Amino acid sequence: MPLKLHTVSTIEALRFQVNAWKMQGLRTALVPTMGALHEGHLELVRKGVRLADRVIVTIFINPKQFAPNEDLATYPRDIQGDLDLLENAGAHLVFVPEGEEIYPNGFSTKVLLEGPAQAGLEDRFRPDFFGGVTTVVAKLFNMANCDYAMFGEKDYQQLMVVTQMARDLNIPTTVIPVETVRGDSGLALSSRNAYLNDKEQKIAPIMNQTLHAAASDIRSGMAIEQATIKAEKALSAAGFKPDYFEARHANTLAPIKAKSDPIRLLTAAWLGKTRLLDNIPV
Ligand code: PAF
Repeated sequence: MPLKLHTVSTIEALRFQVNAWKMQGLRTALVPTMGALHEGHLELVRKGVRLADRVIVTIFINPKQFAPNEDLATYPRDIQGDLDLLENAGAHLVFVPEGEEIYPNGFSTKVLLEGPAQAGLEDRFRPDFFGGVTTVVAKLFNMANCDYAMFGEKDYQQLMVVTQMARDLNIPTTVIPVETVRGDSGLALSSRNAYLNDKEQKIAPIMNQTLHAAASDIRSGMAIEQATIKAEKALSAAGFKPDYFEARHANTLAPIKAKSDPIRLLTAAWLGKTRLLDNIPV
C-alpha cells in the first residue's frame, strides 16, 4: 500500500526521517525543485521511485539563483497543487522550508564552480545563476544525505554542474539524469511556460524543431558553425530573440574539437518576456 505523503519544514525533521529510513536499510532519492510542478518534475519522482525505496522532494524557490531583474517575485507558486501531484506520483516526504531555514542571518558561504559552470552558455547571460544553484544544491545534498538525486536534462548545463560539484566535493549522492518531458508539440515542459500567451505557445515548439533540424544538418555533414548559425537565424525568423545556439561536447560542455566528440546542441532564447531553454543530443 502506498505510504501517505508527509511534509516537513525544518532541517531537523528532514534529517530525522531520512536517518530513520537509512537505519532500516532503505535507499533514498532526492528531487530538488522550486515548486510549480509539472509532468517533468513528476517524471523525476517516478524515476526516483523506481530506483529507491523512499523519494524526498524539496520545494524551495531559491532567491540566490535569481538576479535582481529576474522573476523571483512572480515565479509561479502552488503548494497545495504541488502536494496533490506529489502524493499521486508516489513521493514519500516533502521538505518545504522557509527562507530563514536555508539562509539564516549571517549565512556567508557561496559554492562556486569552474568547468561546466563557466562554459559560456547560461553563465554568460545569468552570471550569478550557478553560484546560487550550487550553493543551495550542496546544502540540500548535505541536509538530506540521499543515495541519489534526480535532475532533468532540460537544464543540461545545471545537470553537468551539479554532477561535477558532487564529484569534486566528494558528496556521496549519485546524480541521476532524467530525460526531458515534452508536450505533444515537442515543447520541453517548464514552469515558466505558464508565462506564454496563446500566440507564443504556437511559436514555442519551433525551438525544438530547430534543434532537430540542426542535428540533422550536422549528421548530414554540414559544418557545425554553419548549422548553428543557420539555426539561430531560423529562431530569429520565427520570432525568438536567441541568447545562444551552440554545439558542445556532451560531457564537458567544451567547444567541439574532434570529429568523434559526442555533441549536445543547446539553446536559450526569449519569446516575448519568457526565456526558453532546450537541448538535444546529435
Ligand atoms: O532546477 C531547479 O528547479 C532549481 O535550479 C533547483 C535545482 C531546484 C535549485 O534551486
